[in-house]
Amino acid sequence: MDRVTIKDVAQEAGVSITTVSHVINETRSINPETKARVMDALDKLGYQPNIIARSLRSGKTKTIGLIVPDIANLFFADVARKIEDYGYQYGYSVILGNSDNDPVKQTNYINTLITKQVDGVIFISAGGVIEDLRSFYENGIPVVVADRDVPLELADVVLLDNEKAGYEATRHLLDLGHDCIACITGPNYVSPSMQRVEGYKRALTEFGIPFRSDLIEGGDFQFKSGELAMQRLLAHPCKPTAVFALNDMMAIGALNAAHDAGLSIPTDLSIVGFDNIELSTAVTPALTTVAQPIDEIAQNATNLLIKRMQCTRTEENIRVILSANLIIRNSTSRMVVSK
Ligand code: RIB
Repeated sequence: MDRVTIKDVAQEAGVSITTVSHVINETRSINPETKARVMDALDKLGYQPNIIARSLRSGKTKTIGLIVPDIANLFFADVARKIEDYGYQYGYSVILGNSDNDPVKQTNYINTLITKQVDGVIFISAGGVIEDLRSFYENGIPVVVADRDVPLELADVVLLDNEKAGYEATRHLLDLGHDCIACITGPNYVSPSMQRVEGYKRALTEFGIPFRSDLIEGGDFQFKSGELAMQRLLAHPCKPTAVFALNDMMAIGALNAAHDAGLSIPTDLSIVGFDNIELSTAVTPALTTVAQPIDEIAQNATNLLIKRMQCTRTEENIRVILSANLIIRNSTSRMVVSK
């Protein structure tokens, strides 16, 4: 007979896998009625916890696992650096996994961190399947998700209010008189990208400017995709006078394409980026961009995880929503009305 799994118990009790995990590992306070149902299901099915994993888990390794989609992107590098700082202050070492935006590699890192018996994980999803997170619960490993949203049943989540930030970035260009504003997006399966586009649309609507799908070009948060997207936009019959790129790497690519096309920035084209990575001040002109609260993201994620790992927090999962702020530099200016 196959081993009874935590999933079997969840189905029998009519609860989520994470709820069963919390009852087994006592990592959350669960309401008595639900807890009783889970206990009955455990007894009825004769569930045997993964004894080896639990015995291994009894020891603490004082390590935190961190998975990010692209360590070459300075946004993730800065977040990882801050998490390592805060973890170290609490006596934890950080094991970094770079998923390269690849769900298969992401799954491999999740399994590696479980094998290495990390005490907790901070997870920034590459997008795609998040079923993997359940395997952390099966091994009693708490998870905090940052930057990219997942269902709250799975983890505490630390996010940015991306819709508001996208609105404010677009509003800045509208206030400068631009009415043909393009947008270079990130991957459409990544929540921050989708939410920023919603903010872009809301700002246009508020200004009575119809949304035009032909002014939206897809990118992948990498430099080259921003450059290629800008080239396509510059071939557009109605040349945009402004572009909102959903991260700085793509905004710098767009800047490169505009320069190659002989455009003067911001006179011929205003550009807004997102993240406020260090490179945004190293290009000419320096980028107007949305500054992410990187220190707050890292501090909130690490603090929440430490409390979960030390079982000083057993409440239900929470979503921490942080705010960004627009930094105006020299890549945007009032729209020049052609004579
Ligand atoms: O630059 C990478 C982007 O992906 C950032 O804006 C961050 O929010 C992440 O989701």
